[in-house]
Amino acid sequence: MKILVVGGAGYIGSHMVKVLFDAGHDVVVFDNLITGHRDAVLDGKFIFGDLADRESLHSLFSQHKFDAVMHFAGYIQVGESVRDPAKYYRNNVTNTQNLLDVMVKTNVRYLIFSSTAAIFGEPCYTPIDENHPKNPINPYGRTKLIVEDMLTDYDLAYGLKSVCLRYFNAAGAHPSGRLGERHFPETHLIPLVLQVASHKLDEIQIFGNDYDTPDGTCIRDYVHVMDLCEAHLLALNYLDLGGESSACNLGNGHGFSVREVVEMAEKITSIPIKVIDRPRRKGDPAILVADSSIAIKKFSWRPRYVELQTIIEHAWEWECR
Ligand code: UFG
Repeated sequence: MKILVVGGAGYIGSHMVKVLFDAGHDVVVFDNLITGHRDAVLDGKFIFGDLADRESLHSLFSQHKFDAVMHFAGYIQVGESVRDPAKYYRNNVTNTQNLLDVMVKTNVRYLIFSSTAAIFGEPCYTPIDENHPKNPINPYGRTKLIVEDMLTDYDLAYGLKSVCLRYFNAAGAHPSGRLGERHFPETHLIPLVLQVASHKLDEIQIFGNDYDTPDGTCIRDYVHVMDLCEAHLLALNYLDLGGESSACNLGNGHGFSVREVVEMAEKITSIPIKVIDRPRRKGDPAILVADSSIAIKKFSWRPRYVELQTIIEHAWEWECR
């Protein structure tokens, strides 16, 4: 297939480009490099551009006949979305609509959309399945939910078929060590812990040690970036075989606490990691674990790297490079 990867220079997008290319697809990457990195695009054709620029989009879609689009080009920082919601609505919603409109206009039928566990808000129960109430508690989550709703309407009205994949805590790196997570600023737990191990940071702050969990720290469902990419491939295949538009949760189904992450990182790196206990971070639920049975049933998704050890080993290999 000829596939457009929007945001293909970012963390998950760059892994996806490699996976698609290795699976024999013809890949075109479209990225404005605001948060992405040109050198993370290892394969395919790179086009520098922005979803806000509708003219470029139209020229891109008139030059190439895409079979499908994968859309990773969202802003992802919860705290920033609270401070500057306009930035999030403009990019995550308005710019996404530009993409959907050009797809409809040029008859590109399949979209795989990067959604998030943040659409659920404060969990009512765990693990979280697709029937869980959707009450996002920050603009980031709301922008992603708006797009999910838009996609339902675009399917009904224009026949655009989509799968929304709601990532829980994306983590890990390409097993080759050639790709990994590179956010500026970095806010995610695993890369920050590993930056302490590599002496880029002095310490890791643990946000809250009084949660109702066995060791008092938050529990998250860390899902390997390669497993996420595999789910995208399977979801695309599902649509191509005539599957209906759908949305599903992607996690590996096991939760690990912040302290367990730090301890595992110490074991893998053999470097003591200094921890500072801090107050809770606003908006962090105690436990976020996915029920991914729909992805497992519908797409025959089988996450391969479910061990926290493997996830952190791959991330460490990347950090060392
Ligand atoms: N944490 C720390 N110290 C840090 C960074 C994180 O203790 O320096 C803790 C957080 O409080 C949280 C856990 O580590 O309990 C994981 O935090 P991350 O920031 O790595 O990830 P989040 O769970 O906050 O966020 C992820 C995605 C978001 C998504 C959200 C869904 O990165 O995009 O899950 O709720 F919105």
